[in-house]
Amino acid sequence: MNRQEALDSVRANVSNENSIKHMLATEAIMRALARRFGEDEEEWGLTGLLHDVDMELTSGDMSSHSKLGADLAGEMGANEAMVHAILCHNEMHDIPRETLLDKALFCADPLTGLIVAAALVRPDKKLASVVAKSVRKRYKEKSFAAGASREQIARCSEIGLELDEFMELGLAAMQGIASDLGL
Ligand SMILES: [Fe+2]
Repeated sequence: MNRQEALDSVRANVSNENSIKHMLATEAIMRALARRFGEDEEEWGLTGLLHDVDMELTSGDMSSHSKLGADLAGEMGANEAMVHAILCHNEMHDIPRETLLDKALFCADPLTGLIVAAALVRPDKKLASVVAKSVRKRYKEKSFAAGASREQIARCSEIGLELDEFMELGLAAMQGIASDLGL
């Protein structure tokens, strides 16, 4: 499976543009994390890109979300490590996150929403206007982008990153694809 095939699958299965952007943002952060850890950038990036591919197919049914996505990714040729990371990113299944890839996807997932929200409150609504320090400040405001689980973001400790570094890395990664994100 190459990136184009993964992206085609996302576009075929997800119609909501914001959801697609969420997956692109997750991909960008996962690529940056892979570089940070000397891991396989393509493997990590495509895991991020595909992680919510079943979002609309499961239409909000969290008991099947990520199971179907993991199956789809596997059918497309994703390896076992990628399939497992996608499967266990939904906490509801209680599947232990074992590998660095599993843990990275889990904490990267909610970070995208926090960073998007931090951009949208800037006067120009641009990621370029966001600094890591302000993401950190927003992180502490529990009511700000409340859907972005702080507890889940804080699991970056499980991949050996301090919050500050994680947010800096995530922000820079998303700024790198700002035009794709429309931000
Ligand atoms: Fe997600």
